[in-house]
Amino acid sequence: MELRLKERLGRKFDEEIRFFKGWMEGPKQVGAILPTSSVTARRMASVINPQSGLPVLELGPGTGIITKAILKRGIKPQDLVSIEYSTDFYQHLMRTMPDVRFVNGDAFELQTILGDFKDRKFDAVISAIPMLSFPMEKRIWLLEDLLDRMPHGRPVMQITYGPVSPIIAKPDRYRIKHFDFVVRNLPPAQLWTYTRPD
Ligand SMILES: C[S@@+](CC[C@H](N)C(=O)[O-])C[C@H]1O[C@@H](n2cnc3c(N)ncnc32)[C@H](O)[C@@H]1O
Repeated sequence: MELRLKERLGRKFDEEIRFFKGWMEGPKQVGAILPTSSVTARRMASVINPQSGLPVLELGPGTGIITKAILKRGIKPQDLVSIEYSTDFYQHLMRTMPDVRFVNGDAFELQTILGDFKDRKFDAVISAIPMLSFPMEKRIWLLEDLLDRMPHGRPVMQITYGPVSPIIAKPDRYRIKHFDFVVRNLPPAQLWTYTRPD
């Protein structure tokens, strides 16, 4: 087998082990046994408009698979703010992608942890935090907070594994769209987008 391919597979395996360990330590907080597939990560990042000139906000980067897809979409590392609750994942991310603006903190406390970005607008929010681990009122509160941090019409992209939107409908407040069902993910993933109504 070609050496580069061997190295790549080795790195992927290391990340899967690291992720699985994170899941063992905090199953509700991590919310999945395996990292998202690169196909799903690309689909999620596809909603970003790299021409907007605005930064992007990522929630729950884990071992960084979606982070990498966001960078590949054409976002500069310094224009990507990514919030990770687990200190172990955060330290790994800082080692592997030192130029991305990772923050070791809680997505529910953006106003206190975003620093220079707390009053900035983001082009899109790409979220992999395990929504189903939080009470519905908190999910709605977070979604509203995220939508207020983007220009009207721009989306929050959320991955989940359940069959329905993890956030209940409030048509006067936001619009929910089923974006994709990605079978090439373990387990198969549902992607949802949320935008303010017209
Ligand atoms: C399902 S994993 C997704 C990891 C990675 N993005 C992927 O797709 O493979 C959820 C991630 O969200 C993080 N997380 C959970 N609650 C969080 C919170 N309140 N704020 C920020 N990150 C959180 C977990 O530590 C974990 O890294």
